[in-house]
Amino acid sequence: MSNSVYQGICELVHKHSSIKLGDNKQTMLTSRLKSRLLQLGIKSWDEYYRYISQGQNNAEIHTLIDLVAINHTQFFRERQHFDRLGSEILDQILAECPGAASKLLAWSAASSTGEEAYSLAITISEHLAKQAGPKPDWLVYASDISSKAIKAATTAIYQEANLNLPQPQFLQRYFKRGRDIYESKCRVKPEILDHVKIERINLFQESYPLPAQLHLIFCRNVLIYFAQDSQSQLVSRLHHMLTPGGFLVIGHCDSLACFKHDFQSLGGGVYRKSS
Ligand SMILES: C[S@@+](CC[C@H](N)C(=O)[O-])C[C@H]1O[C@@H](n2cnc3c(N)ncnc32)[C@H](O)[C@@H]1O
Repeated sequence: MSNSVYQGICELVHKHSSIKLGDNKQTMLTSRLKSRLLQLGIKSWDEYYRYISQGQNNAEIHTLIDLVAINHTQFFRERQHFDRLGSEILDQILAECPGAASKLLAWSAASSTGEEAYSLAITISEHLAKQAGPKPDWLVYASDISSKAIKAATTAIYQEANLNLPQPQFLQRYFKRGRDIYESKCRVKPEILDHVKIERINLFQESYPLPAQLHLIFCRNVLIYFAQDSQSQLVSRLHHMLTPGGFLVIGHCDSLACFKHDFQSLGGGVYRKSS
């Protein structure tokens, strides 16, 4: 792949996702795209670049973004965030955030294949089950730019060996074991699926199809893929999406240290919008 084609593809990826591919990603991109060229019957990188760039080939641009997006995730990844949800954050949200006592709204904003959103849903379900008195309705929005990841999140079938659940009883409580060809796999149970709404969202699209009255946003391990000005712009949009007193949680490889924002830091990647 010539340098100019690589730069052209990087610009397309950036324009449609804000993902910034550095010069060191050329080998990764080449190896991931090779089989795509074979599939399309395209014989050269120049031809592929013409194919994808001419006339805004949106379907192919989505496929390209699927190929460059790093979807690594896990159930209850960075477990301390879920522990803090259960021990302090959810109680604070329910007591202090407008609207949360009637309907608690959370968003897993780069949910990849769904594990983060379902971990959030399980944590909320567990927390509310322990609460005395009337319980709020609740919903977790799950979104990602990758259509492939969204499809997997919607299917909600996972290898049992990869579940990494904090409590063994969660397996039976929240997952249905597969049989025959699905042996060794599990599907999230309907009582959780009913509380998770999944859709493809580019964090940089013009507007989000979500209410700007969210109480909790998980936006973890994704900021790192964007340039600093894009991160700053995104964090201020997330601030706007939260109710007063709402929480933002970022991942261990993300940081808000290099730009100004309006959140109060509570440490460990947890931030709060002032009430
Ligand atoms: C490393 S995964 C993180 C998954 C999960 N949040 C976690 O921490 O386990 C990063 C995800 O961000 C998604 N992503 C990258 N750019 C995006 C964008 N512009 N809008 C929405 N999602 C994006 C990728 O598709 C990928 O699934």
